[in-house]
Amino acid sequence: MFVRNAWYIAAWSDEVGDTPLGRRILNEPVVLFRDGNGRAAALADRCCHRSAPLSLGRCVAEGIECGYHGLVIDTNGQCVSVPGQRLVPPGAQVRRYPLVEKNQFLWVWMGEPALADPALIVDFPYHDDRARWPHKHTMYPIRSNYMLMVDNLMDLTHLGYLHAKTIGGNPLQHFQADMKTVRTPSGVKFTRWMRNSPPPPSYVKAARFQGPVDRLQVFEYVAPSSILQWTGATDAGSGIEPDDFPFQFRLFHGLTPETETSCFYFWSAANGYRQDDPATTEQLFGEIAFAFREDAAMVEAQQARLGELGEDGLVDINSDATRMTMRRHIDRMLAAERQQEAAE
Ligand code: FES
Ligand SMILES: [Fe+2]
Repeated sequence: MFVRNAWYIAAWSDEVGDTPLGRRILNEPVVLFRDGNGRAAALADRCCHRSAPLSLGRCVAEGIECGYHGLVIDTNGQCVSVPGQRLVPPGAQVRRYPLVEKNQFLWVWMGEPALADPALIVDFPYHDDRARWPHKHTMYPIRSNYMLMVDNLMDLTHLGYLHAKTIGGNPLQHFQADMKTVRTPSGVKFTRWMRNSPPPPSYVKAARFQGPVDRLQVFEYVAPSSILQWTGATDAGSGIEPDDFPFQFRLFHGLTPETETSCFYFWSAANGYRQDDPATTEQLFGEIAFAFREDAAMVEAQQARLGELGEDGLVDINSDATRMTMRRHIDRMLAAERQQEAAE
């Protein structure tokens, strides 16, 4: 079951060019495309003539042309032309999903269209500030429920084990980190200090630290499926403000459910420490990509076991507190939707 009344990332803006993109979102087939003016839209991926997937068609000036018999549907989902006849039959319409292009993403609203308020979309202006935050981005298809990936990102105690060779560092330090978690109106946020700790291998590579560092991580979960991350480090005891840390980067993580057991993982890495060196942005992205493939492999294996054996007999440990707060937040959103539906 998914929260429907929320904005989800349907695609990176640059994934949708002059050919339609078919993508299953919240278990519904959706087609993303642009008309001749570059305006992006999301429609049900089903032609209103004989149900052919519109994603097999092509982009035309007025919208999207079905690849079967050539009906043209505009970005509002309205059929605007039928080959060989002057009149468009009444009701020739395809379901339209509200779509907003913002911060290099196409955000889609799969729920009640009247509730789709663009002001609710997460702000991540760093994607638009390439001078201060040069970044690189991608999307991984993951064979797991989207919340297993959210859990993974919001519980950093796995770093010292799963990512020992890259971004991890000493496992015990992750458990002893000075961690403050607060609930926010839209989710949960934590700050996590690891003072006077040995820098993990990827930090040394990136910033050439010679000795121990003060390491700070800030993670904000915006329900249901975005995580905004700031990470930085400075020489231990230097006392400088985090914004001035000589090593810092920002990551964006967006998880969009495809089905109950698969999701799309949109992420970016923005370099905030050597902005004038494109090789640095590449290196940062490459190191993180390596770690994220480790995450994907583990989470997919976890999903497979859960699918086979269910949740019976599993226990919670201290570091599951954030995970449980997030689940409760989602449960409240789902309950609110059910209440709303019942009232209609
Ligand atoms: S099925 Fe699309 S035009 Fe016929
Ligand atoms: Fe990880």
